[in-house]
Amino acid sequence: MIDTRSNKMWGGRFADGPDAIMEAINASISFDRRLASQDIAGSRAHAAMLGATGILEASDVEAIREGLLTVLSEIEAGDFAFSAALEDIHMNVEARLKELIGEPAGRLHTGRSRNDQVATDFRLWVRDQLDAAEVGLMALIRALLAQAEAGASWVMPGFTHLQTAQPVTWGHHMMAYVEMFGRDLGRVRDARARMNYCPLGAAALAGTSFPIDRQMTSEALGFTAPMANSLDAVSDRDFALEFLSVASICAMHLSRFAEELVVWSSAQFRFVTLSDRFSTGSSIMPQKKNPDAAELIRAKVGRIMGANVGLMMVMKGLPLAYSKDMQEDKEQVFDAADNLMLALAAMAGMVKDMTANREALAAAAGSGFSTATDLADWLVRVLGLPFRDAHHVTGALVAKAEAKGCDLPELTLDEMQAEHSGITKDVLEVLGVENSVRSRTSYGGTAPDQVAAQVARWKDLVG
Ligand code: ARG
Repeated sequence: MIDTRSNKMWGGRFADGPDAIMEAINASISFDRRLASQDIAGSRAHAAMLGATGILEASDVEAIREGLLTVLSEIEAGDFAFSAALEDIHMNVEARLKELIGEPAGRLHTGRSRNDQVATDFRLWVRDQLDAAEVGLMALIRALLAQAEAGASWVMPGFTHLQTAQPVTWGHHMMAYVEMFGRDLGRVRDARARMNYCPLGAAALAGTSFPIDRQMTSEALGFTAPMANSLDAVSDRDFALEFLSVASICAMHLSRFAEELVVWSSAQFRFVTLSDRFSTGSSIMPQKKNPDAAELIRAKVGRIMGANVGLMMVMKGLPLAYSKDMQEDKEQVFDAADNLMLALAAMAGMVKDMTANREALAAAAGSGFSTATDLADWLVRVLGLPFRDAHHVTGALVAKAEAKGCDLPELTLDEMQAEHSGITKDVLEVLGVENSVRSRTSYGGTAPDQVAAQVARWKDLVG
C-alpha cells in the first residue's frame, strides 16, 4: 500500500503528502509508462554493474534481476497497476520491485538518480525510434524506386510555379523524392551516431562516490561510450531535439509529396490513381474517392514541427543541470514519433499501390508549350542565334500558337518561318516531348538513361 501522507521514495523529510493538484501536475506515469522496457533494461544493466563492481552482494543482484523480469512481464501482460501517487515509471517499477523482493529493491538505486535514469531511458527510447524511422524510410524509398523503374521513360510535365515548365520523366520525378528521403535517412543515421552515448552513472548531476563502472553499463545498453560530463548527461535533451528536427524535415518532405498526390489524383490532373485501400469515399457524393491519407500526411508536419518548437521552448532557458521542466520533453516526442512512423508507413503503402496514368501524364506533358525551351535551344544550336534572340523568337511563336489555340508542333512551317526564316522542318524533332526528355542527358538530368542509372545506384544502396 502507498503511504499517502508522505512519499515513500523520498518522504523522510516530509511530514505531509502532496496536494491532489500537486500530484496531478507532478505525475508523469500516464505517459512515461511508455519507457517501461527501457527503464527495466537500464535498471538491469545498473544492477549487474553494481554486482560486478562489488558494490552489491551477488544475492541482492540476482533478486533484483529476477524481480525486474517479473515486473516487465507484468507490464507486458497488462497486469501492472500504475499509480499516479508514485509519480513516474521509475518509482512505479521500483515500488513494485520492493513488493516482490523486499529489501534488496532499495539497494538498486545505489550510485544513480532518477535524473540519469530518465536521461538513459529516454535516449534508449529515442534510439529505437531512429531505428524505426530508418526502416520506414527504407520501405518508402523501395516503393519509390519501383515506381521510378517502371516509369523511367514515361513523360510528364515538369513544373515551376506549378506552371508547365519542361517535360520530365515520371521516373525522374519519383527519384527526386528518393533523393530527399535518402537525405532524411542520412540524417537519421547521423543523429543516431551522435546520440548513442550513455548518461547512466552521471547520478543526480555530479557523478557518484561509489566505484561504478560506466563503461560496463554503457556497453550493456548498446551505447558507444559513457557520456563524458555528468552535468551534460542529465541536463541536455538535444538528442530528442535532433530527432524532432530530423523528423520535421522528413515530415515536410512527406507533406510536399502528399500535396502532389492530392493534386495528381484530382479529376483535373488524373496523373495517378490511388488504390481503394488508401482512399476514402464521401457519405453524400457517390462519385468521390478522396485522398485522405495523403491529406493527413500533409498535415502531420504541423504537429511534428510543433513538437520540435515546443521542446526547444521547454529547454531554452533552463540552467544546468536537471529541472522538472524536462519532464515535459516526453509527450511531444512520443506524439511526433508515432505520427512520423504512421505517415511513413501510409506513404509507402500509397506509393506501392498507386497507378501512374501513363496516357494522362503524356497528354499533359505536351501541353502548355512545354518544349518551348527545346525550340529556343535548337535556334541557338542549329541557327547560331544568341540565346536571348532565340528566346524572343520562341516567345513570338508561343504567342502565335496560343492565339491559334494549338500547341507548338501544330504550327505550320510557314507560320514558324514568318518569325525566323532559317527555321526548317527539322525543328519538329525537338518539339516532341519524348525527344525533349531524351535530350536531357546531363548528369542528374531527366533523360531515361540517367534515371535508370540513378535507380540502379539506389537499389544498390537500399537493397
Ligand atoms: N519523471 C521525471 C522526468 O521525467 C524523472 C526525473 C525526476 N527527477 C527529479 N529530480 N525529480 O523528468
